[in-house]
Amino acid sequence: MPELTVVLRNGEERAITGEAGLSVMEVIRDAGIDEILALCGGCCSCATCHVHVDPEFAAKLPKMSPDEDDLLDSTSDRDDYSRLSCQIPFTDALDGLKVRVAAED
Ligand code: FES
Repeated sequence: MPELTVVLRNGEERAITGEAGLSVMEVIRDAGIDEILALCGGCCSCATCHVHVDPEFAAKLPKMSPDEDDLLDSTSDRDDYSRLSCQIPFTDALDGLKVRVAAED
């Protein structure tokens, strides 16, 4: 199974594995990491699954939808590598991906 590293808000790194086919949000949630609230359950309507992705992987991710872009605009911690983790399908091609949990809004 592909591996994912999650950097928590206190800087602690957690290496987890996830099933390809789930979203990155689901992989993080299923690992018991509760800093990702994912309040809307992955419907792209809450932005509580906001992460910063490793720049090395940014080009491998699917293009952002206008809805994701708008939601990220409503967050205080947006940067060039911001994504909603529920909108990133976790695949074998993303093995080794590192994401940092965004600051709480
Ligand atoms: S879980 Fe709500 S936007 Fe991702």
